[in-house]
Amino acid sequence: MYNPRLHQLINEVLHRNNIDIGGDDNLFYTRFVANATAIHFLYSELYGTHPRHTEIFSQLIDTIAAAYIKRPLALKQKDQDKELMGNWILSNEITGMSLYVDRFCGDLGRLAKKLWYFKKLGVNLLHLMPVMESPEGESDGGYAVADFRKVDKRFGSLADLQKLQEKMSGENIYLMMDIVLNHTSHHHEWAVKAKEGNKKYQDYFYMYGDRNIPDEFDKTMPEIFPESSPGNFTWSTECKKWVMTIFHHYQWDLNYSNPVVFIEMLDTIFFYANLGIDILRIDAPAFIWKQPGTTCQNLPQAHVILRLIKQCVQVATPGMALLGEAIVAPKEIMKYFGTGLYTAKECDFAYNATQMALQWDALATGDTRVMLAAQHEILQKPYGASWITYTRGHDDIGLGYDDYMIRNAGFDPYEHRKFLKEYYAGIHPGSPAKGALFSVNPKTQDARISGSLASLCGLEKTILGNDPEGVDISVKKILLMQAQSFFIGGIPMLFYGDEAGYTNDYSYLDEPGKSYDNRWMHRPVIDWVKNEKIEMEGTIEHRIFSGTKRLISIRKKLGVAGDFKNLTWMSPHNIHVAGYLRTLDEQKLYCIFNFSAQTSFLTWAAFKQHGPSPERLYDHWDSRFYTIGFDHEYFIMPPYSFNILEVK
Ligand code: GLC
Repeated sequence: MYNPRLHQLINEVLHRNNIDIGGDDNLFYTRFVANATAIHFLYSELYGTHPRHTEIFSQLIDTIAAAYIKRPLALKQKDQDKELMGNWILSNEITGMSLYVDRFCGDLGRLAKKLWYFKKLGVNLLHLMPVMESPEGESDGGYAVADFRKVDKRFGSLADLQKLQEKMSGENIYLMMDIVLNHTSHHHEWAVKAKEGNKKYQDYFYMYGDRNIPDEFDKTMPEIFPESSPGNFTWSTECKKWVMTIFHHYQWDLNYSNPVVFIEMLDTIFFYANLGIDILRIDAPAFIWKQPGTTCQNLPQAHVILRLIKQCVQVATPGMALLGEAIVAPKEIMKYFGTGLYTAKECDFAYNATQMALQWDALATGDTRVMLAAQHEILQKPYGASWITYTRGHDDIGLGYDDYMIRNAGFDPYEHRKFLKEYYAGIHPGSPAKGALFSVNPKTQDARISGSLASLCGLEKTILGNDPEGVDISVKKILLMQAQSFFIGGIPMLFYGDEAGYTNDYSYLDEPGKSYDNRWMHRPVIDWVKNEKIEMEGTIEHRIFSGTKRLISIRKKLGVAGDFKNLTWMSPHNIHVAGYLRTLDEQKLYCIFNFSAQTSFLTWAAFKQHGPSPERLYDHWDSRFYTIGFDHEYFIMPPYSFNILEVK
């Protein structure tokens, strides 16, 4: 039913703010009216029964209008440019790198002077790990935010961030940053006021005077950091209440059943948008709605919140894409792209965490069957949304794919995961990997894996063991892992240090604020003297850097590598080899990967199963042509090799 009151409200707000709906601001006005019904519907679904829902809805409309009014002209222009590009997020020309500013080069000022490094490599999207104010020692790498709008002095100032953004924009480098939506630090002003007994702010969190409700929650909520932060509630001695703290005891969960919290955080999202963020990484969205009797993860209301955010962003700051950091089971990840009427209208991006973990599975076993068994789910991603693809990031590797995928490949899920954990922790006899188990749950024996790309691929052990052949294999594994994630569709996101073969950094063990969290082993402090070796032919650093750089430049040349729901897996002919075909108009690209320590053979028939049989293939990786042979002949793949073959 048409809701005239809603459009009247919008018109009043726009009129009051002198928005020129027939002129300069017409596009904004059109977007607002087009999205208003959805915004109202989603808001009402969450808060329709709240006693102050009408008043707070007006605040929501004001917040959207204010964001647009405050949006700098240059960003409004950029919004339009992105619209003209079509769906810019699907492009094959974007490659990202995620980094800790302090560990990479010190601070934001110095980072602005390092843009040459990214240009050299071909990276044109930077994900800055959290830089907003966060208490030293209780920061969870910046994910415990004490002030959402103040840059921590360790990194510089807001002005430095703005200068960096302008410089990056001038050099066509996109910016990605986080909004930590689920929680604040217990030093955040809201938490401090709540501790002082202020009722308004106590309602921003989940706080209880006794254990009744916390016990109810605990019955069904899993623990995220069972070793370092067991349980989901923390006793606040100041206000004598139990506070929900799903992650660390110093990260207080925000209560989104209170619409005021939603408005505050939406306003913060707009504040970030107007700093010039191109992709907003929404941290831990799976957790933002809680309900006793559930796991408090992936609840339908969490999706309603994300859809509401997406609609509001689309109206006021449309050039900012949203990445939902949902590292959950494959079926659940998919829902973050939206379902039903909201298909491809929730998060623009999600991490392809399933594929990432499956690549590690294939690398350890030399067998690609589990990876293939999972693809049916991964391929459900809707057109118009995309993945962030990666091999390593700042977090641990979770083996969260479904048991049936492992069973379909013929393995026992428990034994299979046990093997993988032991392999990467370096406990399994003969394993070249050097990682560690993260967050072992003593009750379930569940665990994830920490360790850098290089160390998990064997580089640390082979360098220590003075084993040049082993080093060669490790380098091949590193590039194999990167190549598979680079061409599979979505924006490849490198993790800083991996481009130069950084092995684990154990200095975290001497820092009390970090030593309890072994994820720090794969968050290196960059040594710029060592990095000079990327220029020295023959060094490990040079081999990895130049290989990574070539992969980036090959991908940038091939429009077919863009993410247009244009991927088909090749039917399996050899369990060690996984291959997919990318197609776009006339362009066809076969990407094949040998996960085995042995030479593998792939029948030429494998290339003839998708439309007209090709005659020649050009390998962009090895820069050579192949002529397709007979079905009883083989394409030969050395250990851990891969090919990026374009049909000619
Ligand atoms: C996300 C971050 C992780 C952090 C957690 C809590 O999962 O990636 O590093 O510990 O959220 O904020």
